[in-house]
Parts: sequence; structure tokens; C-alpha cells
Amino acid sequence: MSAAIVCENLTKTYPGRPPVEAVRGINLRIETGECFGLLGPNGAGKTTTVEILEGIMPQTSGNVEILGMNWHDHSMQIRESIGISLQETKFAEKLSVGEILTLFGSFYEAGITTDEAIARVGLQEKKKAWMKTLSGGQKQRLAVASAIIGNPELLFLDEPTTGLDPSSRRQLWDIISSFKKENRTVLLTTHYMEEAEQLCDRVAIIDRGKVIEQGTPRELILRLGGDTMIEFSIAENQNSALVESLSQMDVVSQITFEKEHYLLCGNDADTLLPALTSALQTFNCRLTNLSTRNLGLEDVFVSLTGRSIEDDVEQPEPDDKSSLISD
Ligand SMILES: Nc1ncnc2c1ncn2[C@@H]1O[C@H](COP(=O)(O)OP(=O)(O)OP(=O)(O)O)[C@@H](O)[C@H]1O
Ligand SMILES: [Mg+2]
Repeated sequence: MSAAIVCENLTKTYPGRPPVEAVRGINLRIETGECFGLLGPNGAGKTTTVEILEGIMPQTSGNVEILGMNWHDHSMQIRESIGISLQETKFAEKLSVGEILTLFGSFYEAGITTDEAIARVGLQEKKKAWMKTLSGGQKQRLAVASAIIGNPELLFLDEPTTGLDPSSRRQLWDIISSFKKENRTVLLTTHYMEEAEQLCDRVAIIDRGKVIEQGTPRELILRLGGDTMIEFSIAENQNSALVESLSQMDVVSQITFEKEHYLLCGNDADTLLPALTSALQTFNCRLTNLSTRNLGLEDVFVSLTGRSIEDDVEQPEPDDKSSLISD
């Protein structure tokens, strides 16, 4: 497979007092035809990374290769082959949707028509509307239309579905899926873990300017020790003999205690539940609460960092990261 994006030892420090080390040595290799997701909390360095790859901003150090070319020698060829939807796009307020897309289309030698781009994001009724009259979600869809109008080989989407209603989100997912079917490449950032699980062939989890884990969503989830979690509590709060017994069972991959609850991980509820019931009986423990759920990428993030992806990143780095993932 050939790589659509390669970056090695990428760093970016924004000058200032103090300087901000936004990207601190990122290595990525994204294959042609992949949908690759960058995930991470606010301020993790996703947009900075993406904008360097897009040729919008220079890196402090490190190498970037886009479609086998570099920005220094081949900027025109790269621009012709990529589409960009920024996290925030400011279009001219008094141009219509149709005018904006015709303008963007004129930047490319080849591409799809204005009407096709409008149809693909479902903005037909707004073709003649001024940009400033669009809703937030409609502006977002216009940004995506401007990214696909050049029919790019490689599409960059920085939080394309933030603020979109469910049907617009599905529409965008369809656009991404059709790109993949044509062996084109998509690099997207998102805060929606479910979206990443559905769309991305592989993801990299970024935290404080570094990739802390990467792989297919399934791989990352299974590294937690299974994809099923039973959360339960017992009347006496904690019972060490029960924990000891459960942790020795083959079907149990992890048992931890958090906020008055036990968290039991394994591969499926069908085997975990009977194991739990029998252990509870053996040690005469009374169950006060029980729920089961499938683990997802959010759990991977919490396990790696001890924080939720929704938490603010600007916190001191913890000395001891509690992790469910074994080395
Ligand atoms: N132009 C800038 N000057 C100084 N610092 C910046 C600049 N742009 C971003 N930063 C800082 O760099 C860090 C990374 O920001 P970045 O926008 O890349 O994060 P992000 O992962 O895209 O976050 P979000 O999920 O909120 O979009 C943050 O600490 C941010 O405050
Ligand atoms: Mg961002």
C-alpha cells in the first residue's frame, strides 16, 4: 500500500510567553484509501497537526509527505489533489452558496460541478441564499462542499460534524464512505467517539501534542481486555475475597473498583454474568446495582489518561496514569 500522508517527528511550538508546545513529536503514516481519525480532547494538538499537513502553517521541525510529495517542492500539485474543511471557515457573508462554490471550484483544474457539490451536502434549497443567512450546521455543510468540489484524492476534515443534526451527520458519513469506496483518503478529527468507531479504519489518540495510542478502533478497544463491561455494586461496598475469586476466572480480564462500583471487563456478557452470579453466591454478597455495556473508544481514552475526552486538557500532567491497558 502507498501512503497518502507521512509525518515524522512533527513538532510545533507557537511563540509567546510562555511558548506553547502544541505538537511534540507526532509520527503518522496514513495509507491511501484509509479513513483515519485523530481523536483527542480540546487543545490536544489535532488542528495544529492537520493544518501543518494541509500546508497552511509551517512545522517547527519534522518531515511531512503528502501523496508522495512535499510542500516545499510541489505545493501546486498537492493543492490540486487535496480538499480542506477547516474547523472554522469564514466565507464572504454577501456571497451566495452557489457563488462561493463556483469560486472554490475555479481554483481547481478538474472537479465536480457546483450543483453536484451542493447536492452532496443537501444544500439545494440554499443555492441562492447569502452565506450570512445560513444556520451553523448549514455553514458547516458548505465548508464540506468547498472541500469536495475539487474532487480531491485526499480530504481533510477538521471536526466536520460538530453542530450537525443527525441527518446531516449521516449525509456526511455517506460522503466519507463514498470517498473510501473510490480508494480516496480521508483524515478527520472528531470528538464523537461513536463516529470514529463507525467511520475510521484506524485512529490515533492524541493527548498533549503526542500520539498516545493508535490502531483500528476494535484493536484499541480489545486492548482493554475485552469489549464488554459489567458495572456492579454490592451491599457491603467492597469484598476482597470476591475480587480475588473473580480476577482468577478465565472469562474475566480486569476487575477494578471506582466510585463505589466494581467494573468487570471481559469478552462477552453471556460468560461474564454467570461467573459474577456464582461468585456473588459463593461469598454471600448482595447485589445492589448492575448494568452492562459495550466498551468504546471513550473508555480507551479514559483508560490511557485517567480523564474523559470531554475534560479540558490544560491540566498538570499526572505523575501516575492509571491504565487498564497492559503493556
Ligand atoms: N495560534 C496559536 N498561538 C498560540 N497557541 C495556539 C495557537 N493555536 C493553537 N494554540 C494552542 O496549541 C494547543 C493545541 O491547539 P489545537 O487547536 O491544535 O488543539 P485541538 O486538538 O485542535 O483542540 P480542539 O479539540 O479544541 O479543536 C492549545 O494549547 C492551543 O491553545
Ligand atoms: Mg481543533
